[in-house]
Amino acid sequence: MEDKIRLQKYMAQCGVASRRHAEELIKAGRVKVNGSIITEMGTLVSEQDRVEVDGKLIKKEKKLIYIMLNKPSGYVSTVSDPEGRKTVLDLIDGVNERIYPVGRLDYDTTGLIILTNDGDFAFESTHPGHETKKTYMAEVLGMPSNRALQSLRSGIMLDGKLTAPARVEVVDIKPKSTVLKIIIHEGRNRQVKRMCEAVNHPVLRLKRTAVGRLTLGDLKPGEWRYLSLREVKQIRGKKNG
Ligand code: URA
Repeated sequence: MEDKIRLQKYMAQCGVASRRHAEELIKAGRVKVNGSIITEMGTLVSEQDRVEVDGKLIKKEKKLIYIMLNKPSGYVSTVSDPEGRKTVLDLIDGVNERIYPVGRLDYDTTGLIILTNDGDFAFESTHPGHETKKTYMAEVLGMPSNRALQSLRSGIMLDGKLTAPARVEVVDIKPKSTVLKIIIHEGRNRQVKRMCEAVNHPVLRLKRTAVGRLTLGDLKPGEWRYLSLREVKQIRGKKNG
C-alpha cells in the first residue's frame, strides 16, 4: 500500500510550492483531491489520489535511479521467484524506489547487471535490434577448434534463427577448459550457453564483465553502486556500445 502523507507535504514534493505556500493554496480553496475542494490541513493523500491545484493535476517527480550490481551466483535476476530463491533485489539495501533488473542473467551466471526504475531505459537497452553490446567471459569445457570459434563468430542456429555475428577471442587455455571472451548484441534466452553447447563446448562458468562500455571495475560479487549520469547517457546513446 502506498504511504499517505499530508496534502501540503505532497504538494511540496510535487514541486508546486513550499509547504507554507501550499497551506495558503489549500486555505484559499484552490486545491482539489479526487474532485473535491479540500480546505483542511490534515488531509492525507498518496500518489493514487488525484490532486489538482487551480484545476491542474500535479504529480510527484519520479526519481530515476540506475544501479550496477556484480551479481553473484545463486540469485535470480527477477524481482520475485516462485520457487522462493534469493533475488538480486535481496542484495540492494537502502533503496526505496521500486527498481528491477534490465535483462536477465541466469541463476548461476555472475557479473554486471543494471537495475533501474526507468522503464524507458530498460525498454531501449533490451529492445531487439537496438541492444547494447554485452561482454562475457565464458569458461567452456575442452579447447574449441578454429572451426568451432568461427561458427560462434558467424552465427549459430538457435530456435530456427541464426545468432547475429559475435566477437569471440580465446583469452586463457587451461588443462581441461578454455576461457573465451564473447561479445554479443542480442539477449536471447541463455544465448551464450546455448551457442557454446551447439559447438559441443558446454559452459562451465559464465560471467558478464561489461554492458556497453560500462565495466565492473572494483565491484566485488554482491556489491553495487549507482551509475553516474554520464554512464547512463553512454548506455542510452550507445556510444561505442
Ligand atoms: N547467456 C547465457 O547463456 N546466460 C546468461 O546468463 C547470459 C547470457
